[in-house]
Amino acid sequence: MPKNNLKIKVKNSGLVKMQFFNDFPDGNLVIGEANKNVPFAIKRVYFINNLLNKKSVRGKHAHKKLEQVIFCVNGKFTLSLDDGKNRQKITLDSPYFGVRLGPRLWHTMSSFSSDCVILVLADNYYKESDYIRDYGKFLKYVRQ
Ligand code: TYD
Repeated sequence: MPKNNLKIKVKNSGLVKMQFFNDFPDGNLVIGEANKNVPFAIKRVYFINNLLNKKSVRGKHAHKKLEQVIFCVNGKFTLSLDDGKNRQKITLDSPYFGVRLGPRLWHTMSSFSSDCVILVLADNYYKESDYIRDYGKFLKYVRQ
């Protein structure tokens, strides 16, 4: 099993380890199961590809209730996390580990390799009213 010594310092986050089978020389099999290694029942899956613009910045929001886990299944990118008190930048470059994006966690994705593919698992459907897209409002929300 690949190792990851990353220590997550922000609140409402954590590492999610995928189940890993080395089927050499026929590939790797990587598995996530709801309420097992993925810490919720998955209701929505989305992925982001075609990240050809070096200056792209995604995210720049927090959620009120939504639970997600974000993976870099190919290539790499930088995930910046901010819980309103602590900040942390993480290079995601392994398909075997995801990062929990819990509620009340401001997150930004940037510095994408052109082959980067991001996979996100979420515990609920898309709902714009669950987003906080203004950083000042986010700070007020987490500090109230
Ligand atoms: P957004 O969540 O802001 O993307 P990112 O965090 O990756 O930068 O979503 C971008 C747009 O896509 C936004 O207008 C809403 C829409 N969208 C959906 O309609 N359904 C979804 O499941 C998601 C994730 C986004």
